[in-house]
Amino acid sequence: MIKTRVMFATLTGNNEAVANIIISELEKAGISAKKEQIELVDARTISKENTDLLILVPYTFDLGSIPDETLDFYEDLDEVNLSPIVFGVAGSGDDFYGDDYCTAVDTFAERLQASGAIEGAQRVKVNLYPDATDEQALATFVQNLLTHVKGQD
Ligand SMILES: Cc1cc2nc3c(=O)[nH]c(=O)nc-3n(C[C@H](O)[C@H](O)[C@H](O)COP(=O)(O)O)c2cc1C
Repeated sequence: MIKTRVMFATLTGNNEAVANIIISELEKAGISAKKEQIELVDARTISKENTDLLILVPYTFDLGSIPDETLDFYEDLDEVNLSPIVFGVAGSGDDFYGDDYCTAVDTFAERLQASGAIEGAQRVKVNLYPDATDEQALATFVQNLLTHVKGQD
């Protein structure tokens, strides 16, 4: 069994919708994922024992920042060794914000890499609520992540 966790942060629901699409794509592949809110997870408890595949779905806030409620989680990632967990990051932002569009996705991906986790799929950035094109991109994202995890066996 591939232990899979999908952790999201949302204010108005768009990132929960992204998380739900990811979870449904995982289910189509026969994988049941644990859905969690980032702010309720203690990052120091994440390990290969309880996580093979970690998927983060944060929104982006003011000036390209990560959500306030995920700051503790982000900081605690500095203290863990996540090798060889496979991860992917997707998230919804608003392209109105130009260079700051969805930068929380990159911020989290870089922190997870620094913690020793392996990025298993290209990041997906969604403008506001996910549409059909985003659903397709998220389906590919999930397939690539699963290929990576299965390749570890
Ligand atoms: C005050 C404020 C600042 C924001 N700043 C950014 C930003 O810098 N970059 C970005 O991509 N989106 C930004 N957004 C847009 C949100 O990330 C976007 O609406 C996202 O879909 C919200 O996700 P949620 O529905 O899961 O809360 C901002 C939204 C608000 C309200």
